[in-house]
Amino acid sequence: MATDLSRSVHVTPKSKFVRHTKVPTVIFETSSELAKYVASVVADLIRKKNEAGVSTILGLPTGSTPLGVYRELIRLHNEEQLDFSNVITFNLDEYWPMDPDSIHSYHKFMHENFFDHVNVKPENIHIPRGDIAAEDVDSFCEEYEHSIEKVGGLDLQLLGIGRSGHIGFNEPGSARNSLTRLVNLDPVTRRDAASGFFGEDNVPHHAITMGVGSILAAKKIIIMALGEHKAPVVKRAAEDEVTDEVSASFLQTHTNSLFAVDSAAAAELTAMKTPWIVGNIEWTPQLEKKAVIWLTREVGKPLLKLETEDFLHNHLHQLIHKHGSVGQIRQRVFDELLEGICTKPAGVDPKRVIVFSPHPDDDVISMGGTLITLADQGHDVYIAYMTSGNIAVFDHDALRHIDFVLEFHKLFHPDDQATLTHLQNLKEDIDSKNAGDLDTPEMLGIKGLIRKTEATAGAEVAGVPEERLRFLNLPFYQTGQVSKKPIGEEDIAIVADLLREINPHQIYVAGDLSDPHGTHRVCAEAVINAVDVVAEEGIAPEFWMYRGAWEEYEPHEIERAVPLSPEVVLRKREAIFKHESQKDSAFYPGSDKREFWVRAEDRTRNTATVYNDLGLPEYFAIEAFKHYHGEL
Ligand code: F6R
Repeated sequence: MATDLSRSVHVTPKSKFVRHTKVPTVIFETSSELAKYVASVVADLIRKKNEAGVSTILGLPTGSTPLGVYRELIRLHNEEQLDFSNVITFNLDEYWPMDPDSIHSYHKFMHENFFDHVNVKPENIHIPRGDIAAEDVDSFCEEYEHSIEKVGGLDLQLLGIGRSGHIGFNEPGSARNSLTRLVNLDPVTRRDAASGFFGEDNVPHHAITMGVGSILAAKKIIIMALGEHKAPVVKRAAEDEVTDEVSASFLQTHTNSLFAVDSAAAAELTAMKTPWIVGNIEWTPQLEKKAVIWLTREVGKPLLKLETEDFLHNHLHQLIHKHGSVGQIRQRVFDELLEGICTKPAGVDPKRVIVFSPHPDDDVISMGGTLITLADQGHDVYIAYMTSGNIAVFDHDALRHIDFVLEFHKLFHPDDQATLTHLQNLKEDIDSKNAGDLDTPEMLGIKGLIRKTEATAGAEVAGVPEERLRFLNLPFYQTGQVSKKPIGEEDIAIVADLLREINPHQIYVAGDLSDPHGTHRVCAEAVINAVDVVAEEGIAPEFWMYRGAWEEYEPHEIERAVPLSPEVVLRKREAIFKHESQKDSAFYPGSDKREFWVRAEDRTRNTATVYNDLGLPEYFAIEAFKHYHGEL
């Protein structure tokens, strides 16, 4: 049966306007809803202007955030005749120096992701040039400003936001009235860009960007943010003081600006994080749990020691009104957390379990202790590695492995000249590679093999034998680059086939909202869609989610806590160590510099401390899980 992709996961028409922010903010449940909304604003504007026979002047961003908007605009062009022939565009920025033909250039990005698929006239496209000589930069920037003025200014400016608070590349310290100019990139920005550049060292130090003043001159501004990693800066920009430390906070001074965020990026906004502080709210059992756990931290007491005054003095009088007294609610939250502690995650009778691991190390990094526990308790544990993870292997690691095979052949097959020459050539190919060159399919294959053998060794330590490992190699990942294809029918079919083959009682899926490249999210969507497909055939496993290496569930979200003994934590560490290509310094560490095993141990020990502080049993470490209830 074909899967209806339009019925894509957790897409609901719900969105929520937030008061109490200084920039009006609308929160969408998912990134695709957000993209559809923003694209519809752009499309409405273009249609209105087209009807009036005047040009639409758009300011456009690059980055991962607007990709969904561009995809939707392309769809509107193809399917609903949205006409871009009278649209004039100005891009925010470009790295400098940067050849427009480079795979890293924003010229390339814009053409590949948008301009090549719609009918914007080439002469109407403006993108700062990264290939102009240093002495010409100032006059180029002045000219860029003039060309915006000449067409009457920007009707609509779309923006993303960097973790440094930048809009365009206006890094901390940029003045409110700054104009288009050459800037230095903030270290945070360079680190975030590292994955796209195959390492931080290759990220340019400079860029040409429109200024804060150039952006604020737009008639309307929509700033977008997706993912948990943006949540702190969204709060600073939308709620806190206006400061040149966070350029996006200057949007508070613009009369027609809007923050469009997904629920993950909204998580730190007061209205989301502690809604009881900002006014009357509709209490749900989940929100009550969140509030009571928050209160324990505010007053520094465990759950069962909370008193009426604590509630009254900390904005939670509504809860007392609702329940009459604190005793019942205090006990309910305590009992729920206690009941969630589980030392036999798949029960007593032998079960079939599939752990879905987006990359070949998420299994052991994120839930290695539970994996060990499940295997030790005699369950049939299968691990499905969803992607090869081949783009995250350093060239020098590939070189070392090729060298091993070469030496092996010299020793045991010295007469096999063809193989020896081939291996020698492979080594030379790596030696002569320039930073940023894409890998050949053969090299990607070698890197994939490295990760496959590491995963096999890691699983072995965890107690899962090779015959229970499945390497799915989902097609969406196979671009050889950081940017991936969206999930497709083929991806879903592969996962559905595996579910049919194993018919598991229980599955574990990485339910991430914020991995740097979105791979976890796409993998989760593949499983969610596949589970839908096989449900019609009577296959309905218990569905648990874990968080990847980047975040952990908040205590109120945790529905199952699996305690880990010191011995299990050590074995988990050994399993993570088998992923040698990701050790010491990983290719894509994200913004966290700690090694994966350190992150994993800090995180599980921290969860144990949180439980201890709440007055629950004291454990050495805890892995946390959430039931899948229809959203990540
Ligand atoms: C890109 C730009 C930047 C990005 C920001 C967020 O043209 O000007 O301000 O919008 O760095 O990037 P992503 O969307 O990749 O998180």
